[in-house]
Amino acid sequence: MSLSEKFIVPAGGPYFLTHSAGPMTRLGKSYLDKHYLSPWQDKGGDAWPYWLTLLDRFNGALSKLLGGREDEFAPQSNLSAGLAKYLLALPSRDTPLKILMHADAFPSMGFVVSSLPPEGYELVLIDEKQPANDPNVWEEYFRGDIDIALITHVHSATGVLSPVEDITRIAKENNVRVLVDVAQSAGLIPIHIPSWNADAVFGSCIKWLCGGPGAGWMWVRRETLSELTPITTGWFSHTNPFEFNIRNFEFSETAKKFWDGTPSVAPYAMALGGIETVLDIGVDQIRKTNLELLQIARPNFDFSENGGTLCFKAGYHANELENKLKAMKAFFDRRGKTIRLSLHVTNTPDQANRLRRLLE
Ligand SMILES: Cc1ncc(COP(=O)(O)O)c(C=O)c1O
Repeated sequence: MSLSEKFIVPAGGPYFLTHSAGPMTRLGKSYLDKHYLSPWQDKGGDAWPYWLTLLDRFNGALSKLLGGREDEFAPQSNLSAGLAKYLLALPSRDTPLKILMHADAFPSMGFVVSSLPPEGYELVLIDEKQPANDPNVWEEYFRGDIDIALITHVHSATGVLSPVEDITRIAKENNVRVLVDVAQSAGLIPIHIPSWNADAVFGSCIKWLCGGPGAGWMWVRRETLSELTPITTGWFSHTNPFEFNIRNFEFSETAKKFWDGTPSVAPYAMALGGIETVLDIGVDQIRKTNLELLQIARPNFDFSENGGTLCFKAGYHANELENKLKAMKAFFDRRGKTIRLSLHVTNTPDQANRLRRLLE
């Protein structure tokens, strides 16, 4: 099947917006009808067993894509919600937990920590002047009294790719718990979560998994689940949601303990189509194409420490570049004087060449 048969890219100019929302997949669009609307239409409330199987299929597809056991994944509405639930589930202690992230981490992740009760949690930021992907920088902080590190695998504002495995190794030597944000890397960079030795990973499907908004998820290392006690729960975090005994609540032994009430289904039906499309093409192939296109767009730049997005610091030329991209009817965005352009398998060498001429 050709790529254009797999994706529905908006009409107009080149689509460079995968860092914001990846293009829709045909499979995802069809799954919305097949796995969500049709069962509802045909069975009404009796569609629930089918829908719950679909949610398990979603976890299974993530496990196939990223490694890790299916029962270590739990759907969440977004990364922020998953991170807040995880931090609030940690064993309490007398002094605040110090949580380290780089100042270039996605702001929402910082907002989650800084809005938690200050007697329990403290946000520590590595200054943006220090490189986010240098394990030595992280090590200096770990020598202090950091408890938890949140590593952003690929930074959305700079495109910087972090060596998660190296940073995690040093963190573990210093007894630091490791959390990883893969919002901008899942579906683009080959990932095998168990090799990282991280404690929890947070992601969504909206970007390189081309699954649309709403299908967030978290992965929690199986051996750590028993020490975590979520404070926001519901019947779907129960070991048997259908027990219906208000006097007896028992947490699921799996990552499902991080679920709460009735789960949403529609976003996961679409997202499953996105993940299956990515699995079908292969993450290695997606990354290979991405790097080839990035290299065409900027021939002299080393992309080995970069995710899939060209975060072009346009300086004084930002307005001029923005106008030229608009004239091309390109889909892109801008953060301050940085123009962000993502190159996915739906982009062509010709489009990357047009970018090269503009960026020159
Ligand atoms: C690196 C990174 N983390 C997290 C998010 C989004 O977090 P949430 O799902 O909580 O909106 C984004 C969105 O652009 C991101 O780029």
